[in-house]
Amino acid sequence: VHRLPLIKVQGVPLRCLIANNFDSISAFRPDPSDILIATYPKAGTTWVQEIVDLLRHDGDEEATRRAPTQERSPFLEIHYPPPIPSGLSRIEKMTPPRVIKTHLPINLVPEGFWENKCKVIYVARNAKDNLVSYYHFEKMTFIQPEPGPWDGYIHKFMNGELAWGSWYNHVKDYWMEREKKNILYLFYEDMQENPRREVERIMHYLDLSLSDDVISRIVELTSFKSMKENPMANYSSMPDIFDQSISPFMRKGVVGDWTNFFTPAQNQLFDADYTKQMKDFDIPFRTNI
Ligand code: A3P
Repeated sequence: VHRLPLIKVQGVPLRCLIANNFDSISAFRPDPSDILIATYPKAGTTWVQEIVDLLRHDGDEEATRRAPTQERSPFLEIHYPPPIPSGLSRIEKMTPPRVIKTHLPINLVPEGFWENKCKVIYVARNAKDNLVSYYHFEKMTFIQPEPGPWDGYIHKFMNGELAWGSWYNHVKDYWMEREKKNILYLFYEDMQENPRREVERIMHYLDLSLSDDVISRIVELTSFKSMKENPMANYSSMPDIFDQSISPFMRKGVVGDWTNFFTPAQNQLFDADYTKQMKDFDIPFRTNI
């Protein structure tokens, strides 16, 4: 694995392996029972993956410790492209209903998800914390370009030059489609503010009904602390692509860490640009709770 440059697909920069496999990814046919968890990278994907897995296993901790997150809930663009010359990919080897993760912007999501009316859960995180989290992630992963200096990174984020493209377009495009496509649109900050309320929201969306005790257990098992200590959820199983001594995958898990990184000047510039890019959109993001 190397820090290879990104390649654009329909204007969206993607890891080159993904870009090179894009035709096969687009042709993916999900089962109607499959569930898609979609996010811009670092918005809280793993958190929701763990919640959904526990909900589907009635809060059974052992069931969710059977394998690491990425095996229980595979990554569409990485784990679907069928291996060459033959054989089945990780996603094809699993029996539906599968919980599939993607970072693709909505216009690049395989049509099959919409045709089959799959349940889709989207998680959005405020731009500043999302950016800070992505910056630390790109320092510790070997499979995306180097983040470079902090100040330049802010500009790359504002210009949509990072892997999976523009945060602004990502959150706006799912927001616009959420009603028509019956997408459950969640916010990381809401999950922090009241995890139980959000776990219940996900449960109802998935047409599940679990007891109060089970819900409490799921909230506990998916707290930041539990997940950080859980080898099946903290990505410690992937030392080949993550150097967690640089920055742990479960890094801080808070709202408002951006205040420790943005200078007042950077904040002013970012806010002015944000207002322009988010004009006409009233998406209720919170940068503190
Ligand atoms: P930080 O880098 O701000 O700590 P993703 O799963 O989309 O890659 O997102 C990772 C971010 O979500 C990291 O943010 C990580 O710490 C945070 N996170 C993961 N699990 C969490 C949990 N149970 N509670 C709160 N934050 C969590």
